[in-house]
Amino acid sequence: MLRILVCVSGGGTNLQAIMDAIDSGVITNTEIAAVVCNNAGAYALERAKNKGIPALCISPKNYPDRAAFNEAFLEEVNKINPDLIVLAGFLVAIPPAMIDAYENRVINIHPSLIPSFCGVGFYGLRVHEQALARGVKVTGATVHFVDNGMDTGPILMQKAVNVEPGDTPKQLQQRVMEEAEWKILPAAIDLIANGRVKVEDGKAMII
Ligand code: GRF
Repeated sequence: MLRILVCVSGGGTNLQAIMDAIDSGVITNTEIAAVVCNNAGAYALERAKNKGIPALCISPKNYPDRAAFNEAFLEEVNKINPDLIVLAGFLVAIPPAMIDAYENRVINIHPSLIPSFCGVGFYGLRVHEQALARGVKVTGATVHFVDNGMDTGPILMQKAVNVEPGDTPKQLQQRVMEEAEWKILPAAIDLIANGRVKVEDGKAMII
């Protein structure tokens, strides 16, 4: 049984997709051990509570400096001792010590086809604003392993989504979530839960 920790900051629609996929059997051999959130007002916490999933709220704002937060965050995560850490709309940088301790065991969902529209400053609606500004006809989402860079780790899954004429950033974000994020994140977790993924020479492969 793969024990996962899901890290969230906002609405938690990706968390909900994971919970629904476990309930429906799309994700097998997996349980959500806990949810971590950096925003006490996030609706994602409501979703966890409704499901009876333990949730921890921890934020850099409550620590004297980032080093103190990083230490406390890693300590709390180690207490949960997950097999896999899933960043689902999580907007806090993962401490380098956590990346090292959970090497190739942290995945992230990014709302674009990496390497497009990613890196520093590219998160949430801004990703879709930039895609529309560039005039791309196809965008999508990416599940990747997290390394010490920003959206630079080995890519595991991607799914393309059409940009429709007249799309607003909000409309495009919703389509990317519905058609891509909420499908490939559960699929990636199920593959990992069933030993179907390996990372070699910086590349992630489905076996
Ligand atoms: C989504 O666009 C997701 O791709 C990004 O954060 C946004 C909110 O996700 N990582 P959620 O609704 O909190 O899962």
